[in-house]
Amino acid sequence: ADRVLPHPPRRLPLLGDILDLHVTESSQWAMRDAQRYGTMFERNVLGTRVTYVSGPEEVAAVNDEAVWTRLLGVPLRDLRSVAGDGLFTAHNSEPSWATAHAILAPAFTQSSMRRYHESMIAKTALLIDYWTAAGPDAWLNIPADTNKLTLEIIGDVAFGHSFQSFDEVAPHELIVRISRMLKYINRAAYSHPALEATVFRRARNQHRDDTAEARGLVDDIVRARRVDSTAGRGDLLDLMLSTADPATGKRLSNDNIRNQILTFLVAGQETSAGVLAFALHFLSLRPDVVERMRSEFAAVCPTGDLQFEDVGRLRYVRRVVDETLRLWPVAPGYFRKARQNTRVAGHPFEKGEWVFVVLLQLHRHADWGDNGHEFDPDRFERGRVPHNLAHLYKPFGTGMRACIGRQFAYHEIVVALASIVWAFDLKPDPSYTLQVEETITLKPLALRLKAKRKR
Ligand code: HEM
Repeated sequence: ADRVLPHPPRRLPLLGDILDLHVTESSQWAMRDAQRYGTMFERNVLGTRVTYVSGPEEVAAVNDEAVWTRLLGVPLRDLRSVAGDGLFTAHNSEPSWATAHAILAPAFTQSSMRRYHESMIAKTALLIDYWTAAGPDAWLNIPADTNKLTLEIIGDVAFGHSFQSFDEVAPHELIVRISRMLKYINRAAYSHPALEATVFRRARNQHRDDTAEARGLVDDIVRARRVDSTAGRGDLLDLMLSTADPATGKRLSNDNIRNQILTFLVAGQETSAGVLAFALHFLSLRPDVVERMRSEFAAVCPTGDLQFEDVGRLRYVRRVVDETLRLWPVAPGYFRKARQNTRVAGHPFEKGEWVFVVLLQLHRHADWGDNGHEFDPDRFERGRVPHNLAHLYKPFGTGMRACIGRQFAYHEIVVALASIVWAFDLKPDPSYTLQVEETITLKPLALRLKAKRKR
Protein backbone atom coordinates (compact mmCIF):
# COMPACT_ATOMS: atom_id res chain seq x y z
CA ALA A 1 0.00 0.00 0.00
CA ASP A 2 1.03 3.61 -0.56
CA ARG A 3 2.18 5.03 2.70
CA VAL A 4 5.06 7.21 3.75
CA LEU A 5 6.65 6.18 7.01
CA PRO A 6 9.83 7.38 8.68
CA HIS A 7 12.85 5.29 7.72
CA PRO A 8 16.66 5.39 8.01
CA PRO A 9 18.03 8.23 5.87
CA ARG A 10 20.79 6.33 4.01
CA ARG A 11 18.58 4.32 1.65
CA LEU A 12 20.55 2.56 -1.14
CA PRO A 13 19.27 1.51 -4.57
CA LEU A 14 18.33 -2.22 -4.59
CA LEU A 15 19.88 -2.90 -1.18
CA GLY A 16 17.58 -0.48 0.63
CA ASP A 17 18.33 0.15 4.30
CA ILE A 18 20.78 -2.71 4.60
CA LEU A 19 23.38 -0.43 6.23
CA ASP A 20 20.97 -0.14 9.09
CA LEU A 21 20.58 -3.86 9.66
CA HIS A 22 22.42 -5.54 12.51
CA VAL A 23 21.78 -9.23 12.16
CA THR A 24 23.24 -10.29 15.48
CA GLU A 25 21.32 -7.67 17.47
CA SER A 26 18.29 -7.19 15.30
CA SER A 27 15.75 -6.60 18.10
CA GLN A 28 17.87 -4.15 20.03
CA TRP A 29 18.54 -2.38 16.78
CA ALA A 30 14.80 -2.18 16.09
CA MET A 31 14.36 -0.69 19.57
CA ARG A 32 17.01 1.98 18.95
CA ASP A 33 15.51 2.84 15.58
CA ALA A 34 12.04 3.05 17.12
CA GLN A 35 13.46 5.55 19.58
CA ARG A 36 14.81 7.54 16.60
CA TYR A 37 12.01 7.21 14.07
CA GLY A 38 8.89 6.73 16.19
CA THR A 39 6.19 4.18 17.01
CA MET A 40 5.80 3.19 13.37
CA PHE A 41 8.74 3.17 10.99
CA GLU A 42 9.95 0.99 8.16
CA ARG A 43 13.07 -0.46 6.65
CA ASN A 44 13.59 -1.74 3.17
CA VAL A 45 15.72 -4.87 3.35
CA LEU A 46 16.87 -6.04 -0.10
CA GLY A 47 13.56 -4.95 -1.57
CA THR A 48 11.38 -6.31 1.23
CA ARG A 49 9.48 -3.76 3.26
CA VAL A 50 9.55 -4.32 7.00
CA THR A 51 7.29 -2.20 9.20
CA TYR A 52 8.01 -1.89 12.91
CA VAL A 53 5.31 -0.88 15.40
CA SER A 54 5.90 -0.09 19.07
CA GLY A 55 3.18 2.24 20.36
CA PRO A 56 -0.01 1.17 22.20
CA GLU A 57 -2.28 2.61 19.51
CA GLU A 58 -0.56 0.70 16.69
CA VAL A 59 -0.23 -2.47 18.75
CA ALA A 60 -3.92 -2.40 19.71
CA ALA A 61 -4.74 -2.19 16.00
CA VAL A 62 -2.53 -5.08 14.85
CA ASN A 63 -3.52 -7.29 17.81
CA ASP A 64 -7.17 -7.15 16.68
CA GLU A 65 -7.72 -10.78 15.67
CA ALA A 66 -10.66 -9.88 13.43
CA VAL A 67 -8.37 -7.85 11.17
CA TRP A 68 -4.86 -9.20 11.78
CA THR A 69 -3.42 -12.63 12.47
CA ARG A 70 -0.17 -14.17 13.56
CA LEU A 71 2.53 -14.43 10.93
CA LEU A 72 5.35 -16.91 11.14
CA GLY A 73 8.04 -14.30 10.50
CA VAL A 74 11.28 -14.99 8.71
CA PRO A 75 13.43 -16.23 11.64
CA LEU A 76 10.55 -18.37 12.88
CA ARG A 77 9.79 -19.78 9.45
CA ASP A 78 13.35 -21.09 9.33
CA LEU A 79 12.70 -22.75 12.66
CA ARG A 80 10.31 -25.02 10.79
CA SER A 81 13.36 -26.90 9.60
CA VAL A 82 13.71 -27.93 13.26
CA ALA A 83 10.22 -28.01 14.75
CA GLY A 84 8.08 -28.61 11.64
CA ASP A 85 4.36 -28.36 12.37
CA GLY A 86 4.88 -28.17 16.14
CA LEU A 87 2.59 -25.65 17.89
CA PHE A 88 5.02 -22.77 17.64
CA THR A 89 5.97 -23.10 13.98
CA ALA A 90 2.67 -24.41 12.58
CA HIS A 91 0.88 -22.15 10.12
CA ASN A 92 -2.52 -20.83 11.23
CA SER A 93 -4.26 -22.94 8.62
CA GLU A 94 -2.48 -26.22 9.39
CA PRO A 95 -5.04 -28.67 10.86
CA SER A 96 -2.40 -30.27 13.09
CA TRP A 97 -2.16 -26.96 15.01
CA ALA A 98 -5.80 -27.12 16.12
CA THR A 99 -5.55 -30.79 17.08
CA ALA A 100 -2.36 -30.33 19.08
CA HIS A 101 -3.68 -27.16 20.72
CA ALA A 102 -6.87 -28.95 21.80
CA ILE A 103 -4.92 -31.89 23.21
CA LEU A 104 -2.20 -29.88 24.95
CA ALA A 105 -3.98 -26.73 26.20
CA PRO A 106 -5.58 -28.47 29.23
CA ALA A 107 -2.08 -29.49 30.37
CA PHE A 108 -1.00 -25.83 30.51
CA THR A 109 -3.71 -24.25 32.67
CA GLN A 110 -2.78 -22.67 35.96
CA SER A 111 -4.27 -25.56 37.94
CA SER A 112 -2.32 -28.09 35.88
CA MET A 113 0.85 -26.58 37.33
CA ARG A 114 0.07 -28.59 40.46
CA ARG A 115 1.26 -31.66 38.52
CA TYR A 116 4.62 -30.13 37.67
CA HIS A 117 5.25 -28.34 40.94
CA GLU A 118 7.25 -31.14 42.57
CA SER A 119 9.43 -31.51 39.50
CA MET A 120 10.12 -27.77 39.47
CA ILE A 121 11.01 -27.84 43.19
CA ALA A 122 13.25 -30.90 42.81
CA LYS A 123 15.16 -29.52 39.83
CA THR A 124 15.59 -26.16 41.56
CA ALA A 125 17.06 -28.03 44.52
CA LEU A 126 19.61 -29.56 42.14
CA LEU A 127 20.64 -26.08 40.97
CA ILE A 128 20.95 -24.94 44.59
CA ASP A 129 23.16 -27.96 45.41
CA TYR A 130 25.22 -27.29 42.32
CA TRP A 131 25.91 -23.69 43.32
CA THR A 132 26.46 -24.63 46.96
CA ALA A 133 29.09 -27.15 45.88
CA ALA A 134 30.79 -24.53 43.72
CA GLY A 135 31.36 -22.45 46.87
CA PRO A 136 31.06 -18.73 47.61
CA ASP A 137 34.14 -17.67 45.62
CA ALA A 138 33.31 -19.33 42.31
CA TRP A 139 32.09 -17.21 39.41
CA LEU A 140 28.91 -18.90 38.25
CA ASN A 141 28.02 -18.87 34.57
CA ILE A 142 24.46 -17.71 35.13
CA PRO A 143 22.89 -18.09 31.65
CA ALA A 144 24.43 -21.55 31.28
CA ASP A 145 23.19 -22.65 34.71
CA THR A 146 19.65 -21.28 34.37
CA ASN A 147 19.54 -23.12 31.05
CA LYS A 148 20.47 -26.34 32.83
CA LEU A 149 17.59 -25.78 35.23
CA THR A 150 14.89 -25.08 32.65
CA LEU A 151 16.15 -27.91 30.48
CA GLU A 152 15.89 -30.37 33.37
CA ILE A 153 12.38 -29.13 34.16
CA ILE A 154 11.02 -29.24 30.61
CA GLY A 155 12.78 -32.56 29.93
CA ASP A 156 11.12 -34.11 32.97
CA VAL A 157 7.67 -32.61 32.46
CA ALA A 158 7.51 -33.11 28.70
CA PHE A 159 8.92 -36.59 28.40
CA GLY A 160 10.30 -37.84 31.71
CA HIS A 161 13.89 -37.40 30.61
CA SER A 162 16.87 -36.08 32.53
CA PHE A 163 19.75 -34.65 30.53
CA GLN A 164 21.96 -34.98 33.64
CA SER A 165 22.76 -31.30 33.20
CA PHE A 166 24.05 -30.88 36.74
CA ASP A 167 26.28 -33.99 36.61
CA GLU A 168 27.92 -33.86 33.21
CA VAL A 169 30.57 -31.27 32.44
CA ALA A 170 29.62 -30.95 28.77
CA PRO A 171 26.00 -30.30 27.77
CA HIS A 172 23.98 -33.13 26.25
CA GLU A 173 24.35 -33.66 22.50
CA LEU A 174 20.71 -32.77 21.82
CA ILE A 175 21.19 -29.45 23.57
CA VAL A 176 24.43 -28.64 21.76
CA ARG A 177 22.70 -29.28 18.47
CA ILE A 178 19.59 -27.28 19.35
CA SER A 179 21.59 -24.22 20.45
CA ARG A 180 23.72 -24.38 17.32
CA MET A 181 20.59 -24.60 15.16
CA LEU A 182 19.08 -21.54 16.86
CA LYS A 183 22.28 -19.55 16.38
CA TYR A 184 22.43 -20.53 12.73
CA ILE A 185 18.80 -19.63 12.11
CA ASN A 186 19.16 -16.30 13.87
CA ARG A 187 22.15 -15.35 11.74
CA ALA A 188 20.89 -16.75 8.45
CA ALA A 189 17.38 -15.31 8.77
CA TYR A 190 17.93 -12.41 6.39
CA SER A 191 20.76 -14.02 4.41
CA HIS A 192 20.64 -15.06 0.75
CA PRO A 193 20.66 -18.72 -0.39
CA ALA A 194 23.70 -18.01 -2.56
CA LEU A 195 25.58 -16.75 0.47
CA GLU A 196 24.58 -19.81 2.49
CA ALA A 197 25.77 -22.10 -0.31
CA THR A 198 29.22 -20.49 -0.44
CA VAL A 199 30.54 -18.38 2.43
CA PHE A 200 28.42 -20.18 5.03
CA ARG A 201 28.47 -23.61 3.43
CA ARG A 202 30.04 -25.37 6.37
CA ALA A 203 27.62 -23.83 8.82
CA ARG A 204 24.70 -24.72 6.57
CA ASN A 205 25.82 -28.32 6.28
CA GLN A 206 26.33 -28.47 10.03
CA HIS A 207 22.79 -27.14 10.39
CA ARG A 208 21.39 -29.89 8.17
CA ASP A 209 23.30 -32.48 10.11
CA ASP A 210 22.12 -31.01 13.45
CA THR A 211 18.51 -31.07 12.27
CA ALA A 212 18.63 -34.71 11.23
CA GLU A 213 20.45 -35.82 14.37
CA ALA A 214 18.23 -33.87 16.77
CA ARG A 215 15.13 -35.38 15.16
CA GLY A 216 16.67 -38.82 15.42
CA LEU A 217 17.44 -38.38 19.12
CA VAL A 218 13.87 -37.36 19.89
CA ASP A 219 12.42 -40.11 17.69
CA ASP A 220 14.38 -42.59 19.80
CA ILE A 221 12.78 -41.21 22.96
CA VAL A 222 9.27 -41.45 21.49
CA ARG A 223 9.90 -44.96 20.18
CA ALA A 224 11.17 -46.13 23.57
CA ARG A 225 8.02 -44.79 25.21
CA ARG A 226 5.78 -46.63 22.76
CA VAL A 227 7.56 -49.83 23.76
CA ASP A 228 7.47 -49.16 27.50
CA SER A 229 4.31 -47.16 28.10
CA THR A 230 4.61 -47.50 31.89
CA ALA A 231 7.64 -45.20 31.93
CA GLY A 232 5.79 -41.92 31.51
CA ARG A 233 4.05 -41.02 34.79
CA GLY A 234 1.54 -38.85 32.94
CA ASP A 235 3.94 -36.43 31.28
CA LEU A 236 3.18 -34.47 28.10
CA LEU A 237 4.45 -37.29 25.91
CA ASP A 238 1.97 -39.68 27.53
CA LEU A 239 -0.78 -37.20 26.97
CA MET A 240 0.11 -36.86 23.29
CA LEU A 241 0.35 -40.61 22.78
CA SER A 242 -2.90 -41.42 24.56
CA THR A 243 -5.32 -38.55 23.87
CA ALA A 244 -7.52 -37.60 20.96
CA ASP A 245 -8.93 -34.14 20.25
CA PRO A 246 -12.31 -34.32 22.04
CA ALA A 247 -14.01 -32.26 19.31
CA THR A 248 -12.78 -34.21 16.27
CA GLY A 249 -11.45 -37.51 17.63
CA LYS A 250 -8.18 -36.87 15.78
CA ARG A 251 -4.84 -38.02 17.19
CA LEU A 252 -1.31 -36.69 16.72
CA SER A 253 1.03 -38.42 14.27
CA ASN A 254 4.47 -39.68 15.34
CA ASP A 255 6.15 -36.90 13.38
CA ASN A 256 3.94 -34.31 14.97
CA ILE A 257 4.66 -35.62 18.48
CA ARG A 258 8.38 -35.41 17.76
CA ASN A 259 7.89 -31.85 16.52
CA GLN A 260 6.04 -30.91 19.72
CA ILE A 261 8.87 -32.23 21.86
CA LEU A 262 11.44 -30.27 19.87
CA THR A 263 9.10 -27.27 20.18
CA PHE A 264 8.97 -27.54 23.96
CA LEU A 265 12.75 -27.84 24.09
CA VAL A 266 13.15 -24.76 21.91
CA ALA A 267 10.25 -22.58 23.12
CA GLY A 268 10.19 -23.66 26.73
CA GLN A 269 13.82 -23.65 27.68
CA GLU A 270 15.83 -20.69 26.43
CA THR A 271 12.96 -18.33 27.19
CA SER A 272 12.48 -19.14 30.87
CA ALA A 273 16.24 -19.50 31.34
CA GLY A 274 16.75 -16.03 29.89
CA VAL A 275 14.17 -14.50 32.22
CA LEU A 276 15.85 -16.13 35.22
CA ALA A 277 19.26 -14.86 34.15
CA PHE A 278 18.04 -11.28 33.61
CA ALA A 279 16.20 -11.35 36.95
CA LEU A 280 19.31 -12.59 38.78
CA HIS A 281 21.31 -9.80 37.15
CA PHE A 282 18.91 -7.19 38.53
CA LEU A 283 18.65 -8.88 41.92
CA SER A 284 22.43 -8.97 42.31
CA LEU A 285 22.35 -5.16 42.05
CA ARG A 286 19.26 -4.60 44.21
CA PRO A 287 19.61 -5.91 47.78
CA ASP A 288 16.48 -3.90 48.66
CA VAL A 289 14.40 -5.97 46.23
CA VAL A 290 15.98 -9.18 47.53
CA GLU A 291 15.07 -8.24 51.12
CA ARG A 292 11.44 -7.74 50.16
CA MET A 293 11.40 -11.09 48.36
CA ARG A 294 12.78 -12.75 51.47
CA SER A 295 10.29 -11.23 53.87
CA GLU A 296 7.45 -12.22 51.59
CA PHE A 297 8.83 -15.76 51.39
CA ALA A 298 9.13 -15.94 55.20
CA ALA A 299 5.53 -14.76 55.57
CA VAL A 300 4.04 -17.05 52.92
CA CYS A 301 6.09 -20.12 53.67
CA PRO A 302 7.65 -20.10 57.15
CA THR A 303 8.78 -23.74 56.87
CA GLY A 304 10.90 -22.93 53.80
CA ASP A 305 9.13 -25.78 52.01
CA LEU A 306 7.36 -24.14 49.10
CA GLN A 307 3.96 -25.73 48.36
CA PHE A 308 1.93 -25.38 45.16
CA GLU A 309 -0.57 -23.06 46.86
CA ASP A 310 2.22 -20.78 48.14
CA VAL A 311 3.46 -19.89 44.67
CA GLY A 312 0.42 -17.76 43.80
CA ARG A 313 0.87 -15.88 47.08
CA LEU A 314 4.37 -14.73 46.22
CA ARG A 315 2.93 -11.53 44.74
CA TYR A 316 6.12 -9.52 45.00
CA VAL A 317 8.23 -12.21 43.31
CA ARG A 318 5.66 -12.20 40.53
CA ARG A 319 6.12 -8.45 40.13
CA VAL A 320 9.88 -8.98 39.91
CA VAL A 321 9.25 -11.46 37.08
CA ASP A 322 6.80 -9.15 35.32
CA GLU A 323 9.22 -6.26 35.55
CA THR A 324 12.08 -8.40 34.21
CA LEU A 325 9.87 -9.42 31.28
CA ARG A 326 8.97 -5.80 30.70
CA LEU A 327 12.54 -4.57 30.39
CA TRP A 328 13.90 -7.62 28.62
CA PRO A 329 11.06 -9.53 26.97
CA VAL A 330 13.11 -12.59 26.06
CA ALA A 331 10.91 -13.13 23.00
CA PRO A 332 11.60 -9.59 21.83
CA GLY A 333 8.72 -9.24 19.38
CA TYR A 334 6.22 -10.96 17.13
CA PHE A 335 4.84 -10.67 13.60
CA ARG A 336 1.27 -9.84 12.53
CA LYS A 337 -0.25 -10.05 9.07
CA ALA A 338 -3.29 -8.09 7.76
CA ARG A 339 -6.26 -10.34 6.90
CA GLN A 340 -7.91 -7.54 4.91
CA ASN A 341 -7.19 -4.01 3.71
CA THR A 342 -7.03 -1.83 6.79
CA ARG A 343 -5.37 1.15 8.46
CA VAL A 344 -2.97 1.51 11.36
CA ALA A 345 -2.72 4.96 12.92
CA GLY A 346 -4.14 6.37 9.70
CA HIS A 347 -1.73 4.57 7.35
CA PRO A 348 -3.13 2.12 4.80
CA PHE A 349 -2.13 -1.57 4.85
CA GLU A 350 -3.19 -4.06 2.21
CA LYS A 351 -4.34 -7.59 2.90
CA GLY A 352 -1.24 -9.77 3.30
CA GLU A 353 1.10 -6.97 4.43
CA TRP A 354 2.77 -7.54 7.75
CA VAL A 355 4.41 -5.77 10.68
CA PHE A 356 6.82 -6.62 13.49
CA VAL A 357 5.77 -5.62 17.01
CA VAL A 358 8.90 -4.32 18.80
CA LEU A 359 8.18 -5.46 22.35
CA LEU A 360 11.49 -4.12 23.59
CA GLN A 361 10.31 -0.62 22.75
CA LEU A 362 6.58 -1.03 23.52
CA HIS A 363 7.58 -2.08 27.03
CA ARG A 364 9.55 1.18 27.44
CA HIS A 365 6.98 3.45 25.82
CA ALA A 366 6.37 6.83 27.47
CA ASP A 367 3.04 5.55 28.87
CA TRP A 368 5.13 3.57 31.37
CA GLY A 369 6.24 6.89 32.86
CA ASP A 370 9.54 8.65 32.61
CA ASN A 371 11.56 5.96 34.44
CA GLY A 372 10.69 3.34 31.82
CA HIS A 373 14.32 2.26 31.50
CA GLU A 374 14.68 1.47 35.20
CA PHE A 375 14.03 -1.81 36.99
CA ASP A 376 11.13 -1.10 39.36
CA PRO A 377 8.91 -4.07 40.29
CA ASP A 378 6.52 -1.77 42.17
CA ARG A 379 5.22 -0.41 38.90
CA PHE A 380 3.22 -3.67 38.68
CA GLU A 381 1.40 -2.98 41.94
CA ARG A 382 -2.33 -3.00 41.55
CA GLY A 383 -3.49 0.56 40.97
CA ARG A 384 -0.11 1.65 39.61
CA VAL A 385 -0.07 -0.16 36.26
CA PRO A 386 -0.80 2.03 33.22
CA HIS A 387 -4.51 2.12 32.31
CA ASN A 388 -3.73 0.75 28.84
CA LEU A 389 -1.64 -2.19 30.11
CA ALA A 390 -3.37 -4.59 27.70
CA HIS A 391 -1.72 -2.77 24.79
CA LEU A 392 1.56 -1.86 26.52
CA TYR A 393 2.68 -5.27 27.78
CA LYS A 394 2.67 -8.39 25.60
CA PRO A 395 5.65 -10.58 26.60
CA PHE A 396 3.70 -13.75 25.72
CA GLY A 397 2.33 -12.56 22.40
CA THR A 398 -1.34 -12.14 21.59
CA GLY A 399 -4.54 -13.87 20.48
CA MET A 400 -5.08 -17.46 19.49
CA ARG A 401 -1.36 -18.06 18.94
CA ALA A 402 -0.18 -16.54 22.21
CA CYS A 403 2.22 -18.55 24.37
CA ILE A 404 0.74 -21.82 25.63
CA GLY A 405 3.50 -22.03 28.26
CA ARG A 406 2.75 -18.76 30.08
CA GLN A 407 1.54 -20.26 33.36
CA PHE A 408 4.26 -22.85 33.17
CA ALA A 409 6.92 -20.18 32.79
CA TYR A 410 5.56 -18.08 35.66
CA HIS A 411 5.37 -21.07 37.97
CA GLU A 412 8.87 -22.35 37.31
CA ILE A 413 10.44 -18.88 37.38
CA VAL A 414 8.73 -17.83 40.61
CA VAL A 415 9.67 -21.13 42.28
CA ALA A 416 13.28 -20.83 41.16
CA LEU A 417 13.78 -17.14 41.98
CA ALA A 418 12.15 -17.39 45.39
CA SER A 419 14.20 -20.47 46.28
CA ILE A 420 17.49 -19.03 45.02
CA VAL A 421 17.08 -15.77 46.90
CA TRP A 422 16.10 -17.68 50.04
CA ALA A 423 19.22 -19.85 49.80
CA PHE A 424 21.93 -17.43 48.62
CA ASP A 425 23.36 -13.95 48.82
CA LEU A 426 24.19 -12.95 45.26
CA LYS A 427 27.26 -10.90 44.45
CA PRO A 428 27.70 -9.05 41.16
CA ASP A 429 30.90 -8.72 39.18
CA PRO A 430 31.71 -5.03 39.63
CA SER A 431 33.20 -4.85 36.14
CA TYR A 432 30.08 -6.22 34.43
CA THR A 433 27.80 -4.06 32.32
CA LEU A 434 24.72 -5.68 30.86
CA GLN A 435 25.13 -6.72 27.27
CA VAL A 436 22.30 -8.59 25.63
CA GLU A 437 22.88 -11.48 23.27
CA GLU A 438 20.25 -12.41 20.67
CA THR A 439 19.79 -15.99 19.51
CA ILE A 440 16.14 -15.50 18.51
CA THR A 441 15.57 -15.12 22.25
CA LEU A 442 17.52 -12.70 24.46
CA LYS A 443 19.92 -13.39 27.29
CA PRO A 444 22.49 -11.44 29.32
CA LEU A 445 25.84 -12.09 27.65
CA ALA A 446 28.55 -13.56 29.87
CA LEU A 447 26.72 -12.72 33.07
CA ARG A 448 28.56 -14.14 36.07
CA LEU A 449 27.72 -13.91 39.75
CA LYS A 450 28.92 -15.32 43.05
CA ALA A 451 26.44 -17.04 45.34
CA LYS A 452 27.10 -17.42 49.05
CA ARG A 453 24.94 -19.97 50.83
CA LYS A 454 22.86 -18.43 53.61
CA ARG A 455 20.86 -21.31 54.95
C1 HEM B 1 4.44 -19.00 21.82
C2 HEM B 1 6.93 -16.06 24.78
C3 HEM B 1 7.79 -19.80 27.78
C4 HEM B 1 5.71 -22.78 24.63
C5 HEM B 1 5.03 -17.88 22.38
C6 HEM B 1 4.92 -16.53 21.84
C7 HEM B 1 5.62 -15.73 22.67
C8 HEM B 1 6.16 -16.55 23.74
C9 HEM B 1 5.82 -14.22 22.51
C10 HEM B 1 4.17 -16.12 20.56
C11 HEM B 1 5.13 -15.98 19.42
C12 HEM B 1 4.53 -15.39 18.15
O1 HEM B 1 3.44 -14.80 18.16
O2 HEM B 1 5.18 -15.51 17.11
C13 HEM B 1 7.36 -16.85 25.84
C14 HEM B 1 8.08 -16.32 26.98
C15 HEM B 1 8.32 -17.36 27.83
C16 HEM B 1 7.77 -18.55 27.22
C17 HEM B 1 8.48 -14.85 27.18
C18 HEM B 1 9.00 -17.40 29.17
C19 HEM B 1 8.93 -16.43 30.04
C20 HEM B 1 7.27 -20.92 27.22
C21 HEM B 1 7.27 -22.23 27.81
C22 HEM B 1 6.70 -23.07 26.92
C23 HEM B 1 6.32 -22.29 25.76
C24 HEM B 1 7.81 -22.55 29.20
C25 HEM B 1 6.42 -24.56 26.99
C26 HEM B 1 6.56 -25.28 28.06
C27 HEM B 1 5.21 -22.01 23.60
C28 HEM B 1 4.48 -22.57 22.47
C29 HEM B 1 4.10 -21.47 21.66
C30 HEM B 1 4.61 -20.28 22.32
C31 HEM B 1 4.20 -24.03 22.21
C32 HEM B 1 3.31 -21.53 20.37
C33 HEM B 1 1.84 -21.47 20.70
C34 HEM B 1 0.95 -21.59 19.46
O3 HEM B 1 1.22 -20.92 18.47
O4 HEM B 1 0.00 -22.37 19.53
N1 HEM B 1 5.78 -17.85 23.53
N2 HEM B 1 7.21 -18.18 26.02
N3 HEM B 1 6.68 -20.99 25.98
N4 HEM B 1 5.25 -20.64 23.48
FE1 HEM B 1 6.14 -19.40 24.80
